Amino acid sequence: MPLVDPAAARLFRERFSNEPTVVARAPGRVNLIGDHTDYNGGYVLPMAVEQEIVVAVRRIDQPTVQVASEQFGDSAFRTDQPDRANGWAVYVQGVLRELGFEGGLQLAVGSTIPAGAGLSSSAALEIGVARAVSALRGDEWNIRSASLKAQRAENDWVGMQCGIMDQLSSAGGEPGHALLIDCQSLDIQPIPLPPTLEVVILDTRSPRTLVGSEYNDRRAESTSAASSLGLASLREATTLDLDRLTGTSLIRARHVVSENQRVLAAARSLRSANFEALRHIMAESHVSLRDDYEVSSPALDSMVEAANGGPGLIGVRMTGGGFGGCCVALVERGSSEQFSAFALRRYRDDTGTIGRAYATSAAAGASILEGP
Ligand code: GLA
Repeated sequence: MPLVDPAAARLFRERFSNEPTVVARAPGRVNLIGDHTDYNGGYVLPMAVEQEIVVAVRRIDQPTVQVASEQFGDSAFRTDQPDRANGWAVYVQGVLRELGFEGGLQLAVGSTIPAGAGLSSSAALEIGVARAVSALRGDEWNIRSASLKAQRAENDWVGMQCGIMDQLSSAGGEPGHALLIDCQSLDIQPIPLPPTLEVVILDTRSPRTLVGSEYNDRRAESTSAASSLGLASLREATTLDLDRLTGTSLIRARHVVSENQRVLAAARSLRSANFEALRHIMAESHVSLRDDYEVSSPALDSMVEAANGGPGLIGVRMTGGGFGGCCVALVERGSSEQFSAFALRRYRDDTGTIGRAYATSAAAGASILEGP
């Protein structure tokens, strides 16, 4: 299925009556396992997906950034004044500030990432803008430093205290591979996905509510659990440390400690194509996110239930920040269509909601489509 969206370059010509100088792409991501571990300095195992954002840019001579998107609307902000931009342009503004960009820009965006589903369209937008502007200026492209700048833009300018997983996945994706990321050292180890396996994203199409505030609360709870153990982060906590915690600190830390172990076990199981082990690891991850970290939702739980027993299923769990959004399923190659129909039918019978399924494969990280 051709997923590259030609809309960005076309939209650019339409709105600005000119040719873009650079067109860049940056993928969304799905996390196979390791949620709410990144900002705890832990391990994650995401992959970049085929669904992506395309960013077309050209310099202009005024201190203004004009942004255009068919999906989210047009807007503009000045680069010589500190006022915050409106709506989605705030992500563009945050990244340009981190890059120390001066001057003006026309920028058009197209996307094949379903909005609001939790597949990191915001990180893809940040990385897409960073990739395009770096090429425009002739800067060297560095996956880690671009990801850290994009994360800082989101933390400090947008106000979402996200970790580094989404930005690193969008910048560092490798075709056919998941990425085992150590979020403390930022080391990325590509893990080949067995060719006998397919990845299916199951979108609950239930609105994600309270994402920002609940997410920031979880982050604060984790930090406080670590400091009551006298540790810099929960990455350093062990199963034995859990005996020294109670209440909310205990259950949040228990999730992080066990999830880190599951990520490493999942990477080993992928390498040896041990599907039976993957099934258990993914099921345990979902239960831990649901009961200990409390970031699942009735819709996500129903989708996991609906997928269980589906034809060719290897493992299924909620994925990403939670509170709605998507589940990820690993299925045996060739069974994704039958499996998706099975899961979506049962999900609709249970919830009355029509979900969506996307079979996807691991894509390359951000790159330049046109221009220097
Ligand atoms: C969101 C954040 C990530 C990560 C996940 C949960 O996607 O942006 O940094 O914390 O939630 O794993």
